[in-house]
Amino acid sequence: MCDMRQDVESVLVSEEELGALCDRLAAQITEDFRDSGRDLVFVTVLKGSIMFAADLIRRIPIPCTLEFMKVSSYGSLTQSSGFIQVHLDLKRDVKDCDVIIVEDIIDSGRTLQRLSELLENRGAHTVRCCTLLDKPDRRKVNYKAHYVGTVIPDAFVVGYGLDYDEKYRNLPYVGVLAPKVYNK
Ligand code: PRP
Repeated sequence: MCDMRQDVESVLVSEEELGALCDRLAAQITEDFRDSGRDLVFVTVLKGSIMFAADLIRRIPIPCTLEFMKVSSYGSLTQSSGFIQVHLDLKRDVKDCDVIIVEDIIDSGRTLQRLSELLENRGAHTVRCCTLLDKPDRRKVNYKAHYVGTVIPDAFVVGYGLDYDEKYRNLPYVGVLAPKVYNK
């Protein structure tokens, strides 16, 4: 029988570590926004962020709403500006709201840079990002997330929402994919 775990070379962030980092990030966000007086909106970027968003917001005891977007960013490797295509948009106005974009990973930084700009242009009071993973070695634009779960090396990671060819999202931990899988 096929078992996806055989394709994982090593576990990079275990289930236990994921729980601990969600605890830490949720506590920071709660502290930062508990007295803001504005609507707190979590914008989850599909698809990779769903596990993280579900675990994160369950640990946040202050009122908030959960929204989803699906976007792709385009642009030349050397340009920081570029386009963002919105495949699925918010169902609400974010004017004057505190917005936290929930991401699974920051790679080049383009998606978050452009999505932040878009939400700022819609009148959000605050736009911050909470990312599970950060791969600074791959950065192409100058972007820094406000809340970072953990910094990782430039490895091909899957699991806990992250995919290779749409598979492996359902692994309960973040693992490094064995090169034999993508060198086939
Ligand atoms: C991934 C990830 C971020 C983006 C990061 O999404 O979830 O949204 O890429 O890359 P960047 O920093 O280079 O912009 P992906 O397009 O793989 O979609 P998915 O979440 O549906 O797998």
